Amino acid sequence: MSDTLLFFRQLVSRPVEISAIAPSSRYLARAMAKELGPQTGRVVEFGPGTGRLTQGILNAGVAPKDLSVYEMNPDFVSHLKGKFPGIAVHLAPAQTCVDHEKDVGAVVSGLPLLSMPEALRMEIVAAAFKILRPGGIYVQFTYGPRPAMTDAEIDALGLTWKKTAFVALNLPPARVHTFRRKAER
Ligand SMILES: C[S@@+](CC[C@H](N)C(=O)[O-])C[C@H]1O[C@@H](n2cnc3c(N)ncnc32)[C@H](O)[C@@H]1O
Repeated sequence: MSDTLLFFRQLVSRPVEISAIAPSSRYLARAMAKELGPQTGRVVEFGPGTGRLTQGILNAGVAPKDLSVYEMNPDFVSHLKGKFPGIAVHLAPAQTCVDHEKDVGAVVSGLPLLSMPEALRMEIVAAAFKILRPGGIYVQFTYGPRPAMTDAEIDALGLTWKKTAFVALNLPPARVHTFRRKAER
């Protein structure tokens, strides 16, 4: 089944978990991975869906053996296992990464953070920073003008952020934000 057909079928059956009107474009995938490369070491992706951002991460030069993805939807997981045989695909919520990962150079998130309850959003981003090594980055896209967390949440987690891209060629247009620990700015 094509990526697009699979995405729309899952959107109809699980609209809240997906919370997007289309898979990310290859332009957004490139922008999400622009700070990544073979030097990044281990990379973890949250909410890969059909794998558009996964492909962007691999295209940036991250080796398949260095990439682990966490996806809750079993149909997406079967699709990802067939499409990306060399990567580790976990059928598990993003926040369980703390049980499997350490020394990670970057977490790339395609999760609909803003559609989640605050407690879950905080749990997920806190989990990302537990597995990130010193200097590691958390990359998140959003469709709105602001980052996908409130100022209070960003402060509570001790983070700082910057806008790293605006991608017009995406449906809808998206912004990419990179978060780091404030002490490492
Ligand atoms: C907006 S879609 C993004 C898909 C893909 N990353 C893209 O950009 O085209 C969000 C994805 O996050 C997944 N998801 C939602 N909550 C999750 C969670 N807590 N842990 C892991 N995946 C989750 C959904 O199943 C869906 O595949």
